[in-house]
Amino acid sequence: EKGGYEHFMAKEIMEQPKAFRDTVFPRIQDGRVVLDDLSLTPDYLREVDKLYIIACGSSYHVGMTAKYTLERLLRKPVEVTLASEFRYCDPIVTDKTLALVISQSGETIDTLAAMREAKRLGARVLSIVNVVGSTIARESDDVLYTWAGPEIAVATTKAYSTQLALVYLIGLYCARALETIRAADYDAIVEELLLIPTKLEAILENREDIQYFASLYFNHPSIFFIGRNIDYAVGLEGSLKLKEISYIHSEAYAAGELKHGTISLIEPGTLVVALAGYRPLFEKTMSNVVEVKSRGADVLGLTTQSRGDEIQKTVDHAILIPDTHPMLLPSLEVVPLQLFAYYVALMRGCDIDKPRNLAKSVTVE
Ligand code: M6R
Repeated sequence: EKGGYEHFMAKEIMEQPKAFRDTVFPRIQDGRVVLDDLSLTPDYLREVDKLYIIACGSSYHVGMTAKYTLERLLRKPVEVTLASEFRYCDPIVTDKTLALVISQSGETIDTLAAMREAKRLGARVLSIVNVVGSTIARESDDVLYTWAGPEIAVATTKAYSTQLALVYLIGLYCARALETIRAADYDAIVEELLLIPTKLEAILENREDIQYFASLYFNHPSIFFIGRNIDYAVGLEGSLKLKEISYIHSEAYAAGELKHGTISLIEPGTLVVALAGYRPLFEKTMSNVVEVKSRGADVLGLTTQSRGDEIQKTVDHAILIPDTHPMLLPSLEVVPLQLFAYYVALMRGCDIDKPRNLAKSVTVE
């Protein structure tokens, strides 16, 4: 049932090109995003004055990426909250709030309770769920399913990737309805979306490179992930993956925030994974890489092939991924980080599919 792989996590990482295809391709017809199952009309969308994204764990990290993406596409404020915080923060929700609830299992109790609270306060709920017929799916006004197939490993991989894919589709769909995107930009993003599975395959084919980097660093006591904008959001997920299954302490930081405190933790030999894929902020992030290098950090850089020569000048090792539209970059960036966490955990002899103290579906508060 593991399809020849040693762990479900490895199988699920490798299934991502297919999962992405299954989630996205049927919803693109003649170059347009078609979400037949969605009842959000252009009139309703114009009325929405705020989006509230509610989720836990990795689904929350999808939400962090979604904030950057949806604010840019829709020009509406997007707030992202951990479900466990939302319930107790007296959230500002009205009938003009669209709540986007993200959950692989559709049963996470914190997320479910927060969703009920959002509804009670008047929000309309659109959920992104993997498990068909789950409680969150049933109680939402609208649900879009990630067609990732069953995910067994506690550490999510393909569910995260397909949630992200649906965020792009929702963004494009709503931006078109609201006329907040130029036709040429819309077409360019749709075209690139269709290329993502092939690019994912290319990244997965080079997984031995990541295995090699893991062999260099699997004994590090502490690892930092830095990046800006969507690179930062992906860093959060890379850090969680690593912590969850390898038990190595790690932190994800917005690169520009380092000098406000955390840089004091950087010392000779500290590993910093620098995400510098997001083109508009490449130079900014690289200036932070120079700062950690000068304090003796080992830097594993992650960027796109077109920046390969530039990044190699500064970092110790570079992971290069195919170029894509900047908005879609998280889909490619996350995969080397999943593989890195996987190989590090493997080399440390951890119980990868069932990490200690964790459950696949968290149904207690
Ligand atoms: O099923 P959900 O998406 O609601 O689960 C939320 C989190 O518990 C989940 O993403 C968790 O953080 C994963 N184990 C991360 O790999």
